[in-house]
Amino acid sequence: MPTAPDLTALHDSLLMRTLRCEPTPRRPLWLMRQAGRYLPEYLQVRAAAGDFLTLVKTPAAASEVTLQPIERFGLDAAIIFSDILIVPDAMDLGLGFVTGEGPKLAKPLTADTVKTLSAPAADHYHYLYDAIALTRRDLPATVPLIGFAGAPFTLACYMIDGSGGAFWRTRAMYRADPALFHQILSITADAVATLLIGQLAAGCQTVMLFDSWGGLLADDQYETFSLQYIRRIIRQIKEKSDAPIIVFGRQCALSLAAIANSDAAAVGVDWQTSIASARKLTDGKVALQGNMDPAVLLTDTATITAEAQRILTNYGTSPGHIFNLGHGIDKNTPPENVAALVAAVKEHKI
Ligand code: CP3
Repeated sequence: MPTAPDLTALHDSLLMRTLRCEPTPRRPLWLMRQAGRYLPEYLQVRAAAGDFLTLVKTPAAASEVTLQPIERFGLDAAIIFSDILIVPDAMDLGLGFVTGEGPKLAKPLTADTVKTLSAPAADHYHYLYDAIALTRRDLPATVPLIGFAGAPFTLACYMIDGSGGAFWRTRAMYRADPALFHQILSITADAVATLLIGQLAAGCQTVMLFDSWGGLLADDQYETFSLQYIRRIIRQIKEKSDAPIIVFGRQCALSLAAIANSDAAAVGVDWQTSIASARKLTDGKVALQGNMDPAVLLTDTATITAEAQRILTNYGTSPGHIFNLGHGIDKNTPPENVAALVAAVKEHKI
């Protein structure tokens, strides 16, 4: 019999209290891409799985790598090991990962194939829900589990261009044929809502939307091509669950205030925006998550400690700061530098 999660301990955890902007004795911290190639124990499990996508789709292995950074560093939250591109994978766009090159879709969308595009049903992601249940069972009672998905605009970038880069095809499409682009965003938003509702039902305490490429849009395009779909997802989730939602838009500083008004509990802040500016722009309406430049983790203990303290101090003393990086951790990060960061943040008392 799986043990039921200790709901009181989770509700009172540092992360969940901070998402409600309640006071805590210290700031919670976790790191984007905390499970990954900078950890030798991750490389071992990935090698045994054969490739990245098999790892993502093997619940026991995905759960094991999710737990690795919690066990090694004592971080305050786990994020389920998966990828934003499982949605285009479920849409049968032919997802593959080319070593050293990143993701590639064999069948990127064209005006013709959009006609047959539909939002995949929840049961496409059984492997993920199983990984979430296994992970929740094995996590400490005070460590919440974060589920996630890509924001529709960011997913559309990959679905149209087929791989990462400057996304020229996408940028041409929303200018030449906005109706077609909206059709893609609309189907993708429904797909993402289904996926996130499923992750919450499977055992996640909160979910995060990654709009990693939202900064490609001009600030006066952000509402039209991204934020309205993020709000639609939040609305759909809120019909089923009270779980707080985190929204991270990368290089979206001019849209931070609008994102803070989306009914998200927290807004992710990239390292190009100071945490003090982000607070001014969001006016204490939401919790903030961020924002150390991941490159700081390539330096030394003194530099890491000083930069962590600078960010903690610049945020101020109000509740509502989740310490994190401003983007994902780099694969060349020495694990002992992550340990130094964790020590610096844990020592800081509000
Ligand atoms: O944060 C975590 O620890 C959870 C796992 C996680 C991964 N991808 C695992 C992963 C999360 C939250 C993501 C999100 C993701 N995936 C985003 C949004 C966040 C961001 O970085 O902006 C994006 C854009 C993707 C798409 C994606 N997946 C790319 C561009 C790549 C290749 C880049 C790279 O680092 O190689 C991936 C692969 C990927 N996703 C890896 C990991 C650990 C590396 C795979 C490997 O082991 O080789």
